[in-house]
Amino acid sequence: MGMSLLLTAAGWQDKSLYVEKLNSMDPVLNQIGFLGIIPIVTIEDEKKSIPCARTLQENGLPIIEITFRTQAAAHVIKQIASDSSEMLIGAGTILTKEDAQTAIDAGARFIVSPGFNPKVVKYCIDKSITVLPGVFTPTEIQYAVEFGLEAIKFFPAEAGGGLKYLKAVAAPFKSLKFIPTGGIDQSTLLSYLRFSKVLACGGSWMVQPEMIRAGQFEQIAELICKAVACVKER
Ligand code: 3PG
Repeated sequence: MGMSLLLTAAGWQDKSLYVEKLNSMDPVLNQIGFLGIIPIVTIEDEKKSIPCARTLQENGLPIIEITFRTQAAAHVIKQIASDSSEMLIGAGTILTKEDAQTAIDAGARFIVSPGFNPKVVKYCIDKSITVLPGVFTPTEIQYAVEFGLEAIKFFPAEAGGGLKYLKAVAAPFKSLKFIPTGGIDQSTLLSYLRFSKVLACGGSWMVQPEMIRAGQFEQIAELICKAVACVKER
């Protein structure tokens, strides 16, 4: 029965369903759970920042993770933050405390890393900023438990064994939520979202760098709509 029936009856805007799913005190995590997807975006040309963020927002996904893989990343975050206060902006590929600081100063409200760097995690906790370090093994997950985290990124999801491996490795950790990322696309999205320990999925399939470079915002909009429809089905 599901959540999809419940959602149809209750309406897509009923955020309380998702708050209940995570039951977090952290509004950023609740919003991530409600939206179900974190689009991971790498922008080289600052001029593409606002068109890209608006395309996401206008098509039902007011959330963006800007990767720190380009020189422009902090400026991109600043521009998007100044354009819309409704957009939930995060910074990804954060490898050092210094990058975390730069991203937060630019306006990032959550910090994502590919792996688990205790210095980055502690820095964000001390600043009361949501932090989503990447984990893959039970040992790394225990680090997250030690820091009292409620949700973590699970990376690289598909290359590392997919949903089957995630279910096995997540089994001992009752209340933790995972954000599988890496190789996920429209064809695998729903199966991940339907696993109760998945808060949301991360991915770049809707907003690939070459699409942004070519200014293909209509194509991006179509892919976002398909993904958002999938979240409504979970
Ligand atoms: C990341 O930055 O977390 C990953 O590179 C995203 O993975 P994807 O590009 O396969 O979606």
